[in-house]
Amino acid sequence: MPKDAPQTIFLADYTPFTHRVERVHLTFRLAPGATRVISRIDFAPNPDSAGGPFFLHGEKLALIEAKIDGAPVTPEITETGLTCAVPDGPFTWEAEVEISPESNTALEGLYMSNGMYCTQCEAEGFRKITYYPDRPDVMAPFTVRIESDLPVLLSNGNPTGRGEGWAEWTDPWPKPAYLFALVAGELVNHPDRFTTRSGREVELNIWVREGDLHKCAFGMDALKRSMTWDEQVYGREYDLDVFNIVAVDDFNMGAMENKGLNIFNSSAVLASPETATDANFERIESIIAHEYFHNWTGNRITCRDWFQLCLKEGLTVFRDQQFSGDERSAAVQRINDVLALRARQFREDNGPLAHPVRPESFVEINNFYTATVYEKGAEVIGMLKRLVGDEAYFKALDLYFTRHDGQACTIEDWLKVFEDTTGRDLSQFKRWYSQAGTPRLDVHEAWSPGMTGKAAGTYTLTLRQNTPPTPGQPDKAPLVIPVAVGLLDRDGTEVVPTRVLELTDVTQSFAFDGLETRPVPSILRGFSAPVILTRKQDREELAFLLAHDTDPFNRWEAGRTLAKDVLVRMIAEDAAPSPAYLDALEQMAQDGGLDPAFRALALGLPSQDDMAQTLFDSGHTPDPIRIRRAIRALGQAIADHAGSTFSDLYDEMTVPGPYLPDAEGAGQRALRQAALGFLTLEDEGARARAQFDAADNMTEQLGALVALLHIDAAEEQLSAFRHQWQRDRLVMDKWFGLQASMAPPEKAAKVTRRLTEDADFDWKNPNRFRAVLGGLAANAAGFHDPSGDSYALFTDWLIRLDPLNPQTTARMTTAFETWKRYDADRQGLIRENLERLAAVPDLSRDTTEMVGRILS
Ligand code: PHE
Ligand code: ZN
Repeated sequence: MPKDAPQTIFLADYTPFTHRVERVHLTFRLAPGATRVISRIDFAPNPDSAGGPFFLHGEKLALIEAKIDGAPVTPEITETGLTCAVPDGPFTWEAEVEISPESNTALEGLYMSNGMYCTQCEAEGFRKITYYPDRPDVMAPFTVRIESDLPVLLSNGNPTGRGEGWAEWTDPWPKPAYLFALVAGELVNHPDRFTTRSGREVELNIWVREGDLHKCAFGMDALKRSMTWDEQVYGREYDLDVFNIVAVDDFNMGAMENKGLNIFNSSAVLASPETATDANFERIESIIAHEYFHNWTGNRITCRDWFQLCLKEGLTVFRDQQFSGDERSAAVQRINDVLALRARQFREDNGPLAHPVRPESFVEINNFYTATVYEKGAEVIGMLKRLVGDEAYFKALDLYFTRHDGQACTIEDWLKVFEDTTGRDLSQFKRWYSQAGTPRLDVHEAWSPGMTGKAAGTYTLTLRQNTPPTPGQPDKAPLVIPVAVGLLDRDGTEVVPTRVLELTDVTQSFAFDGLETRPVPSILRGFSAPVILTRKQDREELAFLLAHDTDPFNRWEAGRTLAKDVLVRMIAEDAAPSPAYLDALEQMAQDGGLDPAFRALALGLPSQDDMAQTLFDSGHTPDPIRIRRAIRALGQAIADHAGSTFSDLYDEMTVPGPYLPDAEGAGQRALRQAALGFLTLEDEGARARAQFDAADNMTEQLGALVALLHIDAAEEQLSAFRHQWQRDRLVMDKWFGLQASMAPPEKAAKVTRRLTEDADFDWKNPNRFRAVLGGLAANAAGFHDPSGDSYALFTDWLIRLDPLNPQTTARMTTAFETWKRYDADRQGLIRENLERLAAVPDLSRDTTEMVGRILS
């Protein structure tokens, strides 16, 4: 078979498929080593196509036979698919292929996980199941017959037949192949029902292995709340008789929105109070919502091609963030979303992997399921909403759903519904989709008191934008940036409520007049645009905003900016933390008028990676060891300074009654945990040990373990924890992950190596692999230990995983994406390892592309 060289695919080269698919019928005869897939597909010429040869995607398929209109044909087969002479008009294609799910370790296509069959088809996995035009703009109704003796046989749509050893499913909604799914196994269900607002009765199920049945209730509740929310907020109803969710142990990503049959990484759906933390519950709620919301934003309206990925992902992330904000605290949600954006997307956008929200070329699409497409994609929608207002936003969305239902769309279609409903010209705004990089926003202030008595002062803000170059994009054009600004007077009263300034030029001035005294500005409220403010703020002003800002996001942001400022001076000048900062933090911690969840966030110090980027941006070469030392010293200084604040808080934040994963309890526990962290630095772990012994829920048990690991005094608890949880995979992932991510720098490689030698280190399971090696990469100082041992160990394991699971390997290379920040020695060591990886014979296309981009 001829071997095709990896190709770069370009957005500009899009052409429609030669044919339309009218109907798909599939039969699966399941067997671990030799599954037969029999397809019958009705094709008709596509009037929108310019013609060309008939090509079907197909990879690693053994073709048994193929027929057109009942007559055998002999297609020409390559590594990526087949071509075949076909009639001019409509015709029926039939094929039988054989595949081997048990030897599929890439977890793409049809594979096996703990004895159950499951599929993952996004983005291009369906071509590993049968020959098909595997592209999102080819949509068709599917009927699927599954033949197997396994008790539970599931596919998309509604059940339309069941007998001894077989089941049939029919999905009436035309869909692209990437939304196809099949599951077969010994599963049990947690059932429920939902009545849509127009009266459709929907059967809901979460399917799991027997022993996990007690971990489904929360996911089910989250699903029902998501269904209600989408009806109330977006007017979107569910459209089938059944909605199935299946938990799978081996899965590359979080979850997948297959029509009517969502498949979840078990870590993204299973939870009980004893085994899952508050953070786990919160993540599960948002992923359940995300996948459910895809039913309209992704499935009913899908993407024309994979360059439009943000059309479904950016919008669906935006929707799940709105949902979580409504279900929990909007302010806390926003702070958490921005923390994640900065940690993942800004990191990406400021390194060699920077790319636009809508990329223009790729080699392997799996490498573009990124923080930029997802999280920045969501930010772009948030900006659009801020610019047009809530009412216009929902009007545009209504038009989007009616105009494009059943279609495969583009970002142009998306923006057009906003242009048509608002009359706005969005051509400049569209640059957010094509221009990579994080804009820097500089601010200058001017104050003129005025001549004629009272309230005649004018305050002027001059905003200046600049986006640094990114790979392939040396010159940047100005963007439309919504900058939400409010003005406070000196005693903290808001004199000008939040107003959205629209920055469209490189530099623009905005005047506020009628002011009595010079105001204190609160800029970029609610983080109204994904930009970096470069304005130098003085410490008094930041302390003032931390105490008084009426915008909760900016209030938190002021504390964060202060902490960074303190840390930069500790690292660069060996300065001691300023007592004023310590006082302000303590006051905030004690302020009973503030939401505990908010206080917990405000007590969280900047991450090591965040500090590395901050130092790099201000012209320093970050040293991860020094950064770690400074953050620890600051923590110690806060603990030393505090008097009884934290022990009081620790007692006060005890949540009475049995554990409930609600936002209020979670907020109190988060604040209590922050207090415990500081207390542990003073009491050598006494309270943490007591908490560990008494805990009846994972949030408190793990919290105690984290506190003890922080002072490297958790040996006893680690073995007790293992003993208790040995048989729970998800909990054991935590045990593995914490040790790798929290090991002291000089021990990190050694600890991680020991973990990889553990009998329970099942490295073919992505969750376990990520826990251990991802844990090491997340251990900033340990990963960047000057010996280079961690780089080498990490690379050894990527080399080992690549032939089995290219997707997860490629994704994990991003641990190196920040390498250019560091000193020459570290850069040299990283380069050596990246080159060693690149030189591996037969390295996957996925990993080759990533390493090439990181090195370039
Ligand atoms: N489409 C999935 C989501 O965002 C993510 C995913 C992509 C899962 C590719 C598997 C493979 O919800
Ligand atoms: Zn998604």
